Amino acid sequence: MALCNREGGAVRKEYDMILVTGGAGFIGSNFILDWIGLKGEAVLNLDALTYAGNLANLASLEIDPRHVFIHGDICDSALVTSLLAEYKPRAIVHFAAESHVDRSILGPAEFLRTNVQGTFSLLEAVRSYYGKLQGAEKDVFRFLHVSTDEVYGSLGPVDAPFTEGTPYAPNSPYSASKAASDHFVRAYHYTYGLPAITTNCSNNYGPFQFPEKLIPLMILNALEGKPLPVYGDGQNVRDWLYVSDHCSGIRAALEQGHPGETYAIGGLNEKTNIEIVHAICALLDELRPSHDGPYARLISYVTDRPGHDRRYAINPTKIMKELEWEPKETFETGIRKTVQWYLDNSAWSQSVVSGEYRKWIANNYSGRNGDEQ
Ligand code: NAD
Ligand code: DAU
Repeated sequence: MALCNREGGAVRKEYDMILVTGGAGFIGSNFILDWIGLKGEAVLNLDALTYAGNLANLASLEIDPRHVFIHGDICDSALVTSLLAEYKPRAIVHFAAESHVDRSILGPAEFLRTNVQGTFSLLEAVRSYYGKLQGAEKDVFRFLHVSTDEVYGSLGPVDAPFTEGTPYAPNSPYSASKAASDHFVRAYHYTYGLPAITTNCSNNYGPFQFPEKLIPLMILNALEGKPLPVYGDGQNVRDWLYVSDHCSGIRAALEQGHPGETYAIGGLNEKTNIEIVHAICALLDELRPSHDGPYARLISYVTDRPGHDRRYAINPTKIMKELEWEPKETFETGIRKTVQWYLDNSAWSQSVVSGEYRKWIANNYSGRNGDEQ
């Protein structure tokens, strides 16, 4: 059921709006805020508001007519078809997904539904819409699919970082569902000529990230004096990218990328998980010292995630050379901004730490060795 809470129609012409799916989530909301701030172009935001979707992320756009919010599901093809016909977006940026690996391990079905069936449903509606476009509207139309580096599987310690040519080898239900969606997007380009572009990005961090993911979970647990649950030996490696740098990469791919191409986006910031947790503890020691001593005292090694990929790393040469993209934040500047954001926005954090969140924390962590969460 569609619920439109803002009226944007009066201020726009056809084909000068983009459709964003999943725009109330972590990266989608950062993308919309940056997009409207930098480009001023209207956004139609279709989001089902799952546990991960939060309109508070977009509170600064509450009375801005350039943001039109539709509460709806990408699997609802009648809704998507009618939105495309009514709003006539010139491009689509597809973020909507179930995104948390641990949740995919405990409940994979939702990942199949949203990430595979939902992307397929969306592609079908877009194929029909694209088929009716003509002339310049058809030439400029783009479908940008936001995907992940996890589709490439796990690297050994000295393996070369992933590139666009790395064979797919997904290891979790989450990455398998994203890989399947990537394949559908590719097939719709090759078979139907849909001008689709896929980005495969490494781990993001920054404002508005739901505190089930490593960095915000560690910040909020530390502030509450709770254990900091490090999986396994803490030596798994991720390649961290500040969220606004991911958003600028998506804009570059959308504006200058070639249909049918994929672009790997990464921050050139490989870190072990234990390094990340120590970096957060050190920043909190500086910015919000605890009477009970250094935050690192809370670190607790717990039972590993099943099938835990050991290392991800991206070689972003293609997007850097072809689209002249580069990240602006180093890990040191990005993590400082992030910790400061969570310190300054405790009301946001309190609002997302609901009953559902507590239930999730109990489900995911209570069976693991180490201290109780
Ligand atoms: P998120 O979980 O924070 O947000 C997902 C959003 O999608 C939420 O607002 C949710 O309500 C919405 N959504 C879920 N199911 C939906 C449905 N059926 N219909 C409409 N909306 C639905 O995720 P995120 O971290 O912002 O990730 C966004 C995208 O980027 C995902 O596709 C993810 O795979 C990809 N990605 C994430 C990262 C990362 O580090 N977070 C890195 C690379 C790629
Ligand atoms: O690589 C891109 C992917 O990064 C995105 O596609 C996913 O949507 C996003 O969730 C992220 O996946 P990860 O599994 O890498 O992120 P997460 O924050 O869950 O975990 C990061 C690392 O930290 C991972 O090695 C597992 C570890 N970890 C995580 C949690 C939640 C812990 O040690 N303890 C924890 O409590």
